[in-house]
Amino acid sequence: MEVDAATRKVRVPDFLAMKARGERITMLTAYDYTMARLIDAAGIDAILVGDSVGNVHLGYSTTLPVTMEEMLHHTRAVCRGVRRALVVADLPFLSFQVDPLEAVRNAGRILKEGGADAVKIEGGQIVLPAVRHMVQIGIPVMGHLGLTPQSVHKFGGFRVQARSREAAKALLEDALALEDAGAFSIVLEGVPSDVAAEVTSQLRIPTIGIGAGPACDGQVLVCYDALGMFEDFKPKFVKRFAKLGEEIRRAVAEYCKGVREGTFPDLEHSYGPLEKTEEK
Ligand code: KIV
Repeated sequence: MEVDAATRKVRVPDFLAMKARGERITMLTAYDYTMARLIDAAGIDAILVGDSVGNVHLGYSTTLPVTMEEMLHHTRAVCRGVRRALVVADLPFLSFQVDPLEAVRNAGRILKEGGADAVKIEGGQIVLPAVRHMVQIGIPVMGHLGLTPQSVHKFGGFRVQARSREAAKALLEDALALEDAGAFSIVLEGVPSDVAAEVTSQLRIPTIGIGAGPACDGQVLVCYDALGMFEDFKPKFVKRFAKLGEEIRRAVAEYCKGVREGTFPDLEHSYGPLEKTEEK
């Protein structure tokens, strides 16, 4: 979508309209107010409060420990910073897999208590009853197929999925079933580009790729990856559009030097004598 500060809020139907017009959808994750504000102001279409908050913000080695309360806490913070982008928040591990009714209730909490515009849910056939119910009561759902990180132990690591003809066919069937259940979009993560291209061409709803090649209708990245702040490792599909990790280390070292050498704070960053204390 055209970047214009005065542009109205992006809504769920805009996703379908953008696919119909052949317009690429832009999405990044965010987990806090300040980052969400910056990303929103830059003109992004959608912000994902991903359960990757567990890896890159809370320091867990997988997304599995992330709780509903943590998702709600971060979703509220992000929503306070967003004016324009569509906000989608993840349903965390065990908040939807056990019981479809519990899944619907938790999805409702993401909108009602978190303030998000939509939820994202990992998985195919198994989540269909819950997805149908959510959509029927007005909760917009984004699906998530391929390398679904909540199944990392089943996959034996963060491995590219749908590599065989059979697995690619199953992925397409899951995608069509999610569309049929009412999902408004599907994230395709860690799948070969040609498989993602085929799924994208078969769906009316947009696909959002991450490690799924250029043919998807939109792209999402973890913000700390895209900005070069998460440096523990770099998957092949990540491009660092900035080197903020390096910049933060440089700035902090300069701050420490200034404090240690007594050059910070200087007069410019200090309040004047007693009679001038009303100055800001
Ligand atoms: O949690 C997350 O950040 C995600 C993206 C990787 C799509 O689900």
